[in-house]
Amino acid sequence: MNHPAIIEAAALLKSGEVVAFPTETVYGLGGDAFSSEAVDKIFAAKGRPSDNPLIIHLYDQSELHLLVHDVPESAKLLLAAFVPGPLTLILKGNGRIAPNATAGLSSVAIRIPDHPVARALLQSCGLPLAAPSANRSGKPSPTTAGHVIADLDGRIAGILDAGETGVGVESTVLDLTVSPPMILRPGGISLEQIEEVIGEVTLDPSLGEEVVAPRSPGMKYRHYAPDAPLWIVDGEDVETLRNRLAVEAKRLLEEGKRIGILTTIEGLEFYQNHIPASETVVIESCGSRGDLNSVARLLYDRLRRFNHSEVDRILAEAFPTTGIGSAIMNRLVKAAGGRRL
Ligand code: TXA
Ligand code: MG
Repeated sequence: MNHPAIIEAAALLKSGEVVAFPTETVYGLGGDAFSSEAVDKIFAAKGRPSDNPLIIHLYDQSELHLLVHDVPESAKLLLAAFVPGPLTLILKGNGRIAPNATAGLSSVAIRIPDHPVARALLQSCGLPLAAPSANRSGKPSPTTAGHVIADLDGRIAGILDAGETGVGVESTVLDLTVSPPMILRPGGISLEQIEEVIGEVTLDPSLGEEVVAPRSPGMKYRHYAPDAPLWIVDGEDVETLRNRLAVEAKRLLEEGKRIGILTTIEGLEFYQNHIPASETVVIESCGSRGDLNSVARLLYDRLRRFNHSEVDRILAEAFPTTGIGSAIMNRLVKAAGGRRL
């Protein structure tokens, strides 16, 4: 793809600037991974803490030797099965990329994205690109160019706009430097899918109910968060959950609060029937429970919408944690800072 916008973006990257581009998960903010100055610009534009390492994006597996000495057998199997795609592998680095890109760690996070624009850009600039999600640190990741502009306008050299991204939540981060391999961040490729290819995989204990420090530096921050405090509402089944959410919503409305409700198309009618219609209730529908991929795709956009409607509190329905549901719930739990009903 030799679109003039790609050529221009590639030229900016080669001159050390940072550019936002679409991937199949979320928009990334790319910079030359071999340039400390470019990497500094990424951290500055995002307001990202410097101890949080970046994922390095490659065009093709043939470039792995730029970043690592050895590609373990498990990595080869996973690359064959899922790559290009929403999977990031943590491998032992060869120390060549800018040290600030890995926050001084000896390991390196590698991802080969599966989006035609990302691929064209990587091929055109010929550089490994350090690229975190293109949001201000702490905000929901961007799934449209509009989200990127809302967060980073005036702070970056350019944006490639290719409309909405597909998966909607970030890649799965899998640490292959430990045995058995460990999922540090659930994402576009599920634990079940990975285990089918390489056998047993563990989940970073910090992703469960235990209170322990996560191994992936970025996972310790409150993240993915809309402006208003968000509470996750759970229940033994969907009906119980919705009844519980409606009771809490009515209580907050009586206190004079503006509330946001995050549900799916299946829940719209229920809340319309159970909560008195009012300008102080904003209901957002996020895909369909019957298709968790649709929930993942819309999640960040719907969380951002609550900022425009200026609600005081958001009540979000919990989702099952199977397949991509694990990534959805991980992001909601982070957005909630652990608050649950
Ligand atoms: O889908 C994605 O992965 C998107 C698109 C743009 O590719 N990128 C993304 O990057 O989500 P970011 O920076 O928002 O998240 C990277 C995560 C962070 O949690 C970071 O701490 C972790 O990967 N990470 C990066 N390098 C690591 C390393 N060497 N060891 C452990 N965790 C690492
Ligand atoms: Mg991010």
